[in-house]
This record gives sequence, structure tokens and C-alpha cells, in this order.
Amino acid sequence: MGRDRWSSRPIFIIAAIGSAVGLGNIWRFPYVCYENGGGAFLIPYFVALFTAGIPLMILEYGLGQRMQAGAPLAFWKIRKGWEWLGWWAILTGFGIVIYYAVIMAWCFCYLAYSLKLSWQPDTASFFFQRFLQSGEGPGQLGGLRWPILVGLALTWISIYFAIFKGVKSVGKVVMVTVPLPVILIGVFVVRGLTLPGAIEGLRFYLTPDFGQLLNPRVWLAAYGQVFFTLSLGFGVLIAYSSYLPKTSDVNNNAFITSLADAGISFFAGFAVFSTIGYLAFQNSQPVSEVITQGIGLAFIAYPTAISLLPLAPVFGILFFILLLTLGIDSAFSLVEAGVAGIEDEWHIPRRYIVIGICLLAFIGGIVFTTRAGLYWLDIADHFLTNFGLATVGLLECIVVGYLYGTRRFRSLVNPHSDFRVGIWWDVCILVITPLILVISLGRIAWERFRVPYEGYPQWALALGGWGLVLACLILAIILMVGSRRSPGDLEAAARTGSESESD
Ligand code: PHE
Repeated sequence: MGRDRWSSRPIFIIAAIGSAVGLGNIWRFPYVCYENGGGAFLIPYFVALFTAGIPLMILEYGLGQRMQAGAPLAFWKIRKGWEWLGWWAILTGFGIVIYYAVIMAWCFCYLAYSLKLSWQPDTASFFFQRFLQSGEGPGQLGGLRWPILVGLALTWISIYFAIFKGVKSVGKVVMVTVPLPVILIGVFVVRGLTLPGAIEGLRFYLTPDFGQLLNPRVWLAAYGQVFFTLSLGFGVLIAYSSYLPKTSDVNNNAFITSLADAGISFFAGFAVFSTIGYLAFQNSQPVSEVITQGIGLAFIAYPTAISLLPLAPVFGILFFILLLTLGIDSAFSLVEAGVAGIEDEWHIPRRYIVIGICLLAFIGGIVFTTRAGLYWLDIADHFLTNFGLATVGLLECIVVGYLYGTRRFRSLVNPHSDFRVGIWWDVCILVITPLILVISLGRIAWERFRVPYEGYPQWALALGGWGLVLACLILAIILMVGSRRSPGDLEAAARTGSESESD
């Protein structure tokens, strides 16, 4: 049986944009931008996009598409003995999707709460005390929160149905889940801009503070945001591009995906900051006191603003549909990375692989539906996105850049691409990206050894943070050993590997 295929190039691009555009665009980008120089942040952001984001995306697209394999087998074809890196990327992504789905479960619950605006009058205490019923710390599990568990089941059922038939069904789902949130962001931009106080909010978002450009922290923030938002380092793009024919473009696809993602991030900032400006205006507070990011933005600040609007329940429903549709294609792309990896190694029918992964992730997610869930989610997120992503990205540069060779790799991706990439790409993969990743990794590791993250107890960080990163690595090595191919397979795969170089 041949490899599953996207029905067309635009569908692939839309699916890749769906993976890239996620919660990070709406609840991370605007805030990171505001905190790091406002309008001036666009300069480091675009520099990061062109010197690390797009080059690494070309690397991942190239790997998947030219090797026609998910991450583990693709790395194996590039360099024997490195398939663990593919597994590690996938397992880190798997760790992420476990809690990403829990955040989607919260959105399902809030979708229901929107009908009666149940979060009124105090959104913060509703979220922490009534909804999550958060305990004192990670040590107090304190029983399950049933509404969240039901939301989690709904999330995993949706993910299952989106992907169990393969990329053909994914192609159909993304035709809805990618344009719909963009239209909804548009609705919130228009609504936001027509509210009193909107301009004040936008002034906060965009007033350039060029002095910030001298601050190295700002540059690291730009690189960090670019890596996360483009879904790099989890084997997702390798899996997606492996379903393209071997003779498709690589370079232009990477440019289109990245620029579309950046555009949507920037656009989302208008929706977020105009609404926050309105909230500040209504509460007679400065914008800087109202604006927040992440969970605080989506489940506290935004619901508060929505309550103040005419037709509040309608906007509540639209907002949580926006978050759900933004999240779901990112979530199933992380699952697809694992499915592709397993399908390459073991001949198990796809449906069973998808059921297995969904069930396992659902069970794994139960810990995040307890009353200590928020704490564990915070810890897992910090460690997996910071350490996992950066290490995988760095090793990708080493394997492809140094062990395989950048010129050799360019000769794989250039011939069929709409345009060629040159020395620029080599410099980025050999020098700039690894350098930035080493600095970021060193900085954050040093910080973690000095002060425990957010003051959590050491045992919790050891278990849910370092332990999780390490567990992914150990499991990756076990999977590599467990999937050792027979000599016949090795030869066949080696043949396809060398074919890919000759054509
Ligand atoms: N890029 C997604 C976002 O911005 C998150 C994500 C990361 C999705 C990694 C898939 C893989 O929210």
C-alpha cells in the first residue's frame, strides 16, 4: 500500500497553517509583543523568523518530504542511530498534547457557561475556586473535576474523528477549522475596534520602544515565540510533509506557512488589545493592569470584557468556539506526528494506532483534571516547551547541518522547489539557530538550577518537569531499540534513502 497523500498542495498548506496557528497566536504573541518593545518587537520577530523559524521549517519539511517518512525513520535515513531523536520529538509533542487537550476541555466547559455567563460577577474567583477548585499546591490532588473530565472526553473524541481516516479526512476538517477561527478573529477585531478605549489598548500593543532592541532578553523572546508558534521541534511538520509527493516544493511552502502564521498572530493582537483597552476603560484602570496572557487572558480577562458587551452570550460562545477551532488542528497535528512514526515502524492498522494514542493521552490527561491540575499543567508546559523543544531543534541542526551536510541537504530540497535557498540557509542552520538555542537553553537551565520554577516544591518539579523530559528521552531510546529493523528492511530503506539523493 502506498503512502497516504494530501489531496492537493493548498490543502497541505492549510493543514500546516492549522498546526502552526493555535492558542500561542492569540494568547502568547500579543502579550510577548507588548512586553518586549511593542511595535519595535516586530523587528526581532521578523529577524527570528528569517534566521531560525523559516530555515528550521525548511529542514523539517525537507526531511519529511524527501525521506517520505515520519520523524524517527526520516532521521534514521539521514543518519543511522539517530531515530531516537525523532521519537524524542514525538514523545515531547505527545506530552504537550496531553495538557493542550485539557485546555480545550476547559473551553468546552466555558462554551456551556457562556449561555448564562456563569462566570459573573468575579471571573477570577469563578475560574480558580468554582471551576478548577484549585487546592493549595501540586501535592493536593483532591479528586476529579467531572465537568473537565467530560470536556476532555469530548476533545479526544473530536480529535479521533478528525484523523482516524488519515490525511484525506484531516484535509476536510481543516477546511473548516482553519478559516473559521480567522473569520472569528476578524469579528472580534471589528467588535473590539468599535468599543470605547480600543485606541488606548492598541497604543499599548504597538507603540514602539526601540530602546528595547538593545536588550538581549527581547531577542530571545522573539526566537522562543517563533519556535513555539511554528510548531517546530515536535516532528509535526516532518509527518505532515511526508504525505506530500516526493517531487513537491519545500522552500516556498515553508515561507507561506510561516508568513501566514505571523500575519494571523499580528492580526489577533488587534482583537486582544482593543478589547483589553475597552475593559480598562470600563474599570477606569490603566491597560497595563488589565492585560495578561495565557490562561489569565482566555478565562479571566476576556470573559470579563465579554460580560460587558451587548449580546454577551453570543460573543462568549463565539470566543470559545474560536479557541476550540484554533486548538484542535494544533492538537491533532501533534497526534499525527506519533501516528506517522508508529505506522512507519510497525504494520498496525491506522485506526488502532489512533485509538491507542487518543486513549493513552486521555488517561494521561486525567491528572490535569484533578484539583491540582493547573499546577501540574503549568510545570509540564514550562519544561516540555522550553527544554524539549530547544534540545530537539538544536540536535536537528547538528544532525542535518553537521553530520549530513547543509549543501547536500540543499541539493535535496532545491531541485523541486519554487525557488532555491542558498548559503543563507547554511549559515542559519550551522551557526545562528544552534547558537541561539544553546544560549536560550543555557540561560533557562541556569535559572532553573538557581530558583525553582514559580516556587513549586522541588519534588514536584523533579517529577512533572525534569522527570517528564527525561522519561520522554528514555522512552525514545526504548522505542528505537524496540523498532530495530530486520537486515532486509534496512537495505530497502537505505535504497530509498539514496534514491532521494540521486533524483
Ligand atoms: N503552534 C501552536 C500554537 O501556536 C502550538 C503547537 C506547538 C502545536 C507544537 C503543535 C506543535 O499554539
